[in-house]
Amino acid sequence: MTHDTIVILDFGSQYSQLIARRVREQHVYCRLEPCTLPLEALRALQPKGVILSGGPSSVWAEGAPRYDPGLLGLGVPILGICYGMQLLGQMMGGRVERGDSGEYGPATIEILEPGLFFAGCEGAERVWMSHGDRVTELPAGSKVTARTPTVEVAAFADANRRIYAVQFHPEVSHSPKGGRMLSNFLLEVCGCRADWTMASFIAEATAAIRARVGHERVVCGLSGGIDSTVVATLIHRAVGGQLTCIFVDNGVLRAGEADEVVRMARDRIGVKVVAVDAAERFLWRLAGVADPEAKRLAIGDEFVRVFTEEAERLGGARFLAQGTLFPDLIESRSAFGGPSARIKSHHNVGGMPAWSQFELLEPLRELFKDEVRELGRELDLPHAILHRQPFPGPGLAVRVVGEVTPAGLKILRDADAIVQEEMKRWERYGEIWQSFAVLLPVKSVGVMGDARTYDFAVAIRVVTSRDGMTADWARLPEDLLARLSTRIINEVDGVNRVLYDISSKPPSTIEWE
Ligand code: XMP
Repeated sequence: MTHDTIVILDFGSQYSQLIARRVREQHVYCRLEPCTLPLEALRALQPKGVILSGGPSSVWAEGAPRYDPGLLGLGVPILGICYGMQLLGQMMGGRVERGDSGEYGPATIEILEPGLFFAGCEGAERVWMSHGDRVTELPAGSKVTARTPTVEVAAFADANRRIYAVQFHPEVSHSPKGGRMLSNFLLEVCGCRADWTMASFIAEATAAIRARVGHERVVCGLSGGIDSTVVATLIHRAVGGQLTCIFVDNGVLRAGEADEVVRMARDRIGVKVVAVDAAERFLWRLAGVADPEAKRLAIGDEFVRVFTEEAERLGGARFLAQGTLFPDLIESRSAFGGPSARIKSHHNVGGMPAWSQFELLEPLRELFKDEVRELGRELDLPHAILHRQPFPGPGLAVRVVGEVTPAGLKILRDADAIVQEEMKRWERYGEIWQSFAVLLPVKSVGVMGDARTYDFAVAIRVVTSRDGMTADWARLPEDLLARLSTRIINEVDGVNRVLYDISSKPPSTIEWE
């Protein structure tokens, strides 16, 4: 089944990805393409509509990104947002003037001409405005459809040519009716069918994997995290026994984790798993290394070696499956350039180097993180996986501050197991982004029974976050904090002090290293 496609041309706005999400939420398939996409390539995608995103430039700035005016000749509906509106204004023969000062923030638009685009909106709607330049003369055939007290042309439209332009951002949550406006554009103006669902995604992705893989073999690095588990499940559905997952125990996993992940993959997904115990190799590489970046690099490098060796041992797999997501691809492309040739290192796989012989299979490359979770639900993955807290690729190595030693790892694992156990019992555990222990390279004096102790300190880090980019420390109840502290000090040998980390991100980070 082919879906109606919307193409979003990205002019560099911080909100471009958000536009894509909003379109997907309407169950319409869309692609986010750089604004350098040649017109012919755009035409070849056979879009049902094109959205021009916002961007940081002024249309008057030197080198400001533009688009081939031939776009107007494609005859498909176009929506210009912010910078996209000014560009449209200019391309269509209107006049755009440089604003003296930018205006950002909430505004109320007065809707003058509802038309298809504003259908279902009131006469006045709150929106999120952001602009520097302004359209001062409309292109021939266009009408002003909305204004604000300070912006005369807050939106314009040429309904005959099905071209719509808005100065504000309908894609952000501060524009409460923005979703309706986008849905009007997609469904009413472009006439898209709302048939892009996870069930259709699974059917198409498995068919595509089957066609590409043929009778070849596939390997997939399994970490137990949601991305790699979903990839493995999807590929297993497509090519069954041709897939082998490789799980590398790098010696810096949490207590019980290796067994748990391998069992889950074998029993619940039914996939072949090769578990590699490489703990010693990793710990050997980490010996004497105290610098956080050096630790990360050593682990990444060793991972690639172990993984490649194992894949070779399996006898020539042609494909390597990775859980690359949509945002990873966007991040790895330059602001206005095309996709960079570099393959974005996937955290969980550690990033395969250029010399690797594998062909990459990246079935999730169209998806956002929350869509992967939805996909996981659709694939019937266990709740525990769908809601697993993120765990960093370098594992506990970045939570033993300074040099990683077997003794330090043991202390951290024991303390961390208590944190996991107590946190999971808490009724609000589901609101937490991550909760873990960190072993500090600090010793302090204590008294236990009648004896003096001189032992390590453990920090507890519990944060809330939407996406890991920013985070706040969780306000845990006092009795939970007390239980964590008492249990860790009483039950973990070598610890006589527990601290609670009350730093937000920024300026701190979630992990200590
Ligand atoms: P920071 O410490 O940068 O972490 O605030 C943000 C989020 O990313 C996770 N993290 C990693 N995940 N490989 C991963 O897969 C890594 O190297 C890595 N480093 C940090 C961290 O746990 C948090 O959720």
